[in-house]
Amino acid sequence: MTNLETLLSDFNSQISAVQNKQQLEEIRVNFLGKKGLVTELFSQLKNVPNEEKKAFGAKINQLRDQVTQKIDIAKDHFENAELNEKLIGEKIDVSAPTRKSSAGKIHPINQVMLEIEEIFGALGFDFAKGPEIEDDFHNFTALNMPADHPARQMQDTFYLKNSDLLLRTHTSNTQIRKMLNSQPPLKVAALGRVFRRDSDQTHTPMFHQFEGFVVDENINMGHLKWTLENFLEKFFEVKNVELRFRPSFFPFTEPSAEVDINYSIENGRIKIGGSKNSLGDRFMEILGCGMIHPNVLENCKIDSKKYQGFAFGIGIERLAMLKYGITDLRMFFENDARFLNHFGF
Ligand code: PHE
Repeated sequence: MTNLETLLSDFNSQISAVQNKQQLEEIRVNFLGKKGLVTELFSQLKNVPNEEKKAFGAKINQLRDQVTQKIDIAKDHFENAELNEKLIGEKIDVSAPTRKSSAGKIHPINQVMLEIEEIFGALGFDFAKGPEIEDDFHNFTALNMPADHPARQMQDTFYLKNSDLLLRTHTSNTQIRKMLNSQPPLKVAALGRVFRRDSDQTHTPMFHQFEGFVVDENINMGHLKWTLENFLEKFFEVKNVELRFRPSFFPFTEPSAEVDINYSIENGRIKIGGSKNSLGDRFMEILGCGMIHPNVLENCKIDSKKYQGFAFGIGIERLAMLKYGITDLRMFFENDARFLNHFGF
């Protein structure tokens, strides 16, 4: 009869000296395999006197469990070590230079934002960033939209669960934040992401806006018009951009206007501007603007008797589509490498 204690201590000394998976497998076969030492014990069961069978059976079961458990632990150990080694070997050096064929490019949205920064930087505008997760006050209330204002429904808002916060629906929150912590004169531009519950061919739930505003003494719509014309001529690199101001409504501006830009179709492509006598005869809406409502100035502790301001908001995707001839809004967000290679910078 095999001595169980000797067998177990044999096993223990072997398993504590095991160096690798192959050795472990040998030990496993030696003890638990079909003809293994532990397995053999079960065939000895028939030689055990009846009254001892139960106790002996329990003992060898226990022994088998102990051995199995230790082998499993050792197996885990070697497999983890193997995995770690593999992970170290597969480490990616993110600072390594790219292969030429897959060099990165600037996304057209970023390119437009860089161009805006250049043009408005040269005009002396400060660049401000407002938060994308915003509260009701900065996105609505301070912009002259109290709680029950119907204009709130014009902007399908994403609200955060179990909180008063929301995803900003426009970059106009930056106006409020900037005016609240500084005094005029102010010339500010803000670029960033905005969010609306809207999704179809011409709307995506996230898009980018560019907001510009000026607050000073004696500011009027003429300053607004010059700023927009000057910007659009520089941006589209053309002379004679013609803008059409259509009366409109925003709670935070009075008067308010929507602005259309003239264009023509040349060889199937949209062409903005042109020489004075060959201007396109079509118009397309590109932005909203107006004189900042006195209530908004007062909400931001700015004396509306002394100061006036203009503000405008433009969709960046729209600008990029017009300038680069991109026809589908959704292409901006599909991360298709072919799109980036073609339209990237
Ligand atoms: N915030 C407006 C919008 O997103 C655009 C706008 C900005 C209009 C500033 C007027 C002045 O629709």
